[in-house]
Amino acid sequence: MARQKIICDCDPGHDDAIAILLAANSPDLELLGLTIVAGNQTLENTGRNACHVLQWLGREQIPVYTGCGRPMVRDRVTAGDIHGKTGLDGPVFPPLRKAPEGEHAVSYLIRTLLASEGDITVVTSGPMTNLGMALRMEPRIAEKIQRIVLMGGSYTNGNVTPAAEFNILADPEAAHVCFTSGRPITMIGLDVTRKVLCYPEIVERMAKAGNCASRLFVDLMKHFCKAQKEVFGWEGGPLHDPVTIACLLDPGLVSTKPMNVQIDLSHGPSYGRTNCDAFGYLGLPATADVAVDIDADRFWDIIEDGLRRYGETEARA
Ligand code: BDR
Ligand code: CA
Repeated sequence: MARQKIICDCDPGHDDAIAILLAANSPDLELLGLTIVAGNQTLENTGRNACHVLQWLGREQIPVYTGCGRPMVRDRVTAGDIHGKTGLDGPVFPPLRKAPEGEHAVSYLIRTLLASEGDITVVTSGPMTNLGMALRMEPRIAEKIQRIVLMGGSYTNGNVTPAAEFNILADPEAAHVCFTSGRPITMIGLDVTRKVLCYPEIVERMAKAGNCASRLFVDLMKHFCKAQKEVFGWEGGPLHDPVTIACLLDPGLVSTKPMNVQIDLSHGPSYGRTNCDAFGYLGLPATADVAVDIDADRFWDIIEDGLRRYGETEARA
C-alpha cells in the first residue's frame, strides 16, 4: 500500500520532537518535509531545534523550511515555561550540520500542494500561521489538501487561559482561516492529549529500547515532565503532538465526533477558544472531527514501536 504523504508543520518543542521522531521513520508515512513556525519559541529556535532532531536521528535528508516568525494579527506568545529558553531544553546535541532550506515554508506549502494529486495530509502541531498564510496567499491549495490533522484546541479547558489551548491562542486568526477552509479537519485537542500522560514508568519503559531515539525521548521527557509538574501539577507530561501522527498510523486509536467548531476571535477572555458544538445546539454543519477519546495503552505501544525502529547505527550523534 502507498505510504501516506504528510507535511508536518511544527514548532519544536519537546512533544513536537517526538511527533517528528515518529513520522520520520514510519514505513506507513512519507514525510515530505517539515515546515517550521514560531510558537513554543522564536522561529530561529524552533528551526534550529527541528534540524537538531533530524540530525540526531540520522534523518538529515528530510528538508526543513522555516516560515512565519509572528502570528497573523496578535502579538507573539511563546511557551518558555514548558519548553525552556531554547524551546528544546534538556538534550545536549552535537554541533549542527543541518540547516533549513532557503525557501520560505509558506512558498513550499503552496508549491508542493499545488503540484500534488491531492494526496497530502498536512499535520500541524504548532500555531497554524504557515498554513493559514498559505491558504490566504493561494486559495487554490485548499482543494489539494487531503486532510488537516492538528494538535490544538479543546472542547473543555484551555492550558494557557481557562478557555484556550496554546497552539490556537498563539494565532487564533490563522486557526480561523484553516477551520473555514472547507477541508476535512481532525482536531486533536487537550481533551484527549491530557489522557496520555508520560509517567516515570513510561519513561523507564521507553529507555529500554536503548538506541538513539530512546535516549532522545528520555532526555526530552526529563525536562518536559518536570516543567509540566511545576506549571500544572501533573505527575507526567501530556504528550500532545505525537497523537496526530499516532492516529494516522492507527486510525482507530482516537475516537472522534463531527462538530461545528468556531474559533473565538473576540479578544475577550475566551480569545482563541475552539467553540465545539458537541451537542449540535447551533444546528450548523460539522466543520471538524473532534477527538473525544483515546486508547492510551495503544498510544504508548505506537510510541515504543516508533522508537524501536531506529537502529543504533542510524544515529549521526
Ligand atoms: C501544544 O502547545 C505546545 O506547547 C505543545 O508543543 C503542543 O503543540 C499543547 O497545547
Ligand atoms: Ca507543538
